[in-house]
Formats: sequence, structure tokens, C-alpha cells
Amino acid sequence: MTDIGEWQGGVGRSWADEHARTDRSFSRMTPHLLAAIHEEPGRCVVDIGCGAGELSLALAQARPDAMVTGVDVSADLVAAASARAAGLDNVRFAVADASTWQPEQAPDLYVSRHGVMFFPEPPAAFAHLSAIAAPGARIVFSCFRNPRENRWASGIAALLPESAASASADPVAPGPFAFADPDHVRTCLRGWRDVTFTPVDFDYIAGAGPDAVTEALAFFGRIGPAARAIRVMPEAERPAFLERLANLLESHRSGDVVSFPAAVWLVRATAE
Ligand SMILES: C[S@@+](CC[C@H](N)C(=O)[O-])C[C@H]1O[C@@H](n2cnc3c(N)ncnc32)[C@H](O)[C@@H]1O
Repeated sequence: MTDIGEWQGGVGRSWADEHARTDRSFSRMTPHLLAAIHEEPGRCVVDIGCGAGELSLALAQARPDAMVTGVDVSADLVAAASARAAGLDNVRFAVADASTWQPEQAPDLYVSRHGVMFFPEPPAAFAHLSAIAAPGARIVFSCFRNPRENRWASGIAALLPESAASASADPVAPGPFAFADPDHVRTCLRGWRDVTFTPVDFDYIAGAGPDAVTEALAFFGRIGPAARAIRVMPEAERPAFLERLANLLESHRSGDVVSFPAAVWLVRATAE
């Protein structure tokens, strides 16, 4: 579970510091998401949970006639995104909770790369997004499928000591896998019709370079389930965990790249 308070605090700060590596981790998936987005018209585009803004910036560059607004609850991430947007005059960013945010103009296209699974009350959030949208507005977002198909997560889960095992047994609690089940996503998309799911499999890049395992260890030490586990486990358990993690990363190294099988849905829908 990752709640809004965590994104507004240290988790958001880590993502801002590590944005080059998080963008890289998704680099084999983002072109699929952008291709799906480019099938949709839209001049008033909103990037939900925009993070450090890679998707917003790509859309602003691809659509000079559109205005792209990235919305995120983390001030640190919005600062990182704004810094990257220097020189582009058709993109802006707002620190706001997208589930209640009021735009100046009705959006006709929502996009999101993994930014919609953290709403505490997803049906209310999606109903709001539909209510403030232009008639027939579209949404295109990516979200992880189940952890078994995402070895970067299930591999780490298998290494955790009991002290750091996930406390939440709720598979749809806000977090990276909250939208793994299409039936659940359909029930969350209140106010939306024509919902479709397209699976995309890709290599999630954890580390690269001459010492790719050390580089991946640095990344996983700050972002995702290993970082969370390291934060909560007793200090005495950390060296053994880090050794197991390094062995896992080594077993997924091919040459100078450490990567894991990963799986997402590309979800599309139309506002009612
Ligand atoms: C997994 S990160 C993805 C960030 C970015 N889209 C990317 O692909 O790099 C999830 C993002 O959603 C943001 N977020 C979480 N809940 C939110 C909410 N209710 N409204 C807006 N942003 C939210 C977080 O701050 C975080 O930046």
C-alpha cells in the first residue's frame, strides 16, 4: 500500500531524485503507451499522477497545438517535472489531488503512466474525472498486471524476512498492483464506458552499465518494494537481505543490463 501522504513525503522525494532511473525502468513500455495515446485526439490533455513528467513532456512535444497539464500530489515531483519543461510553453504542472482537482478547461484526454492506482476511493475519483471532462473525453493509462507476471516485484517478495513482509492482504489497496484485476478496474471506472484492456509485456530495466548489479541495487534501495522493506526491517537483517537481493539481480543480469519480466495493462475508456 502506498498512500497519498507517502507520495507527498519521502516516497515522492525518492521518485524525484531517481526520475532518470524510473523513466529508464519503463523505457521498454512507454513507447507502447504513447502509441496508444497517439491514437486519440485531444487538445486539453491531463496527465494524472504525472510524477517527474516524462509522459507530459513527450505529449507536449508531439502536440504543439495542445495544452498538457500534469497533476501530481508530490511537490517534489512537480518541481522536477517543471524543471524539465523549461522552454516548452504548452505544458504546465499542478500540485493537486487529481481525484478532486478542478481544471480551468474541461479535459478531452486523460493519460497516465501508473498514476491512477493510488486513489483511496477509485470509483469516486474516476466519477469526478468523468464529470469534469468534455463530452466523449477519453482516458488511456497503464497499470501493472499481477505480481506473478512482474518478476521485479514477486522476486523481491520471495526474499523478504518476516519483519518486512507486506502487512496488507488487500489486493486492491492503493498501490502498484491495485489495478491488476480487470474486473476490479471496471468497477472503479464509474462514469466511463467502452473500457478495453490491452496486455503489454516488457523488460523492466533495473540497472545498466559496467557494474549493472550495483547500479540496480542503488535503484532498488530507493524505489519500490525493496526500498520499503529496507525501511521497515531491523537493521540487523539488512546485510543478509541486501546479499539475497544482489544475488537475485545478478541472476537477471545479461551483459551490462539487469532486467526483469514485467507486465502491464493499457486501459482505454470513454467518459459518459
Ligand atoms: C508510480 S508513480 C508514477 C509517476 C509517473 N506517472 C511516472 O510514470 O513516472 C505514481 C504517481 O502518482 C502520484 N499520485 C498518487 N496519488 C495521486 C493523486 N490522488 N493525485 C495526483 N497524483 C497522485 C504520485 O505522487 C506519483 O507521482
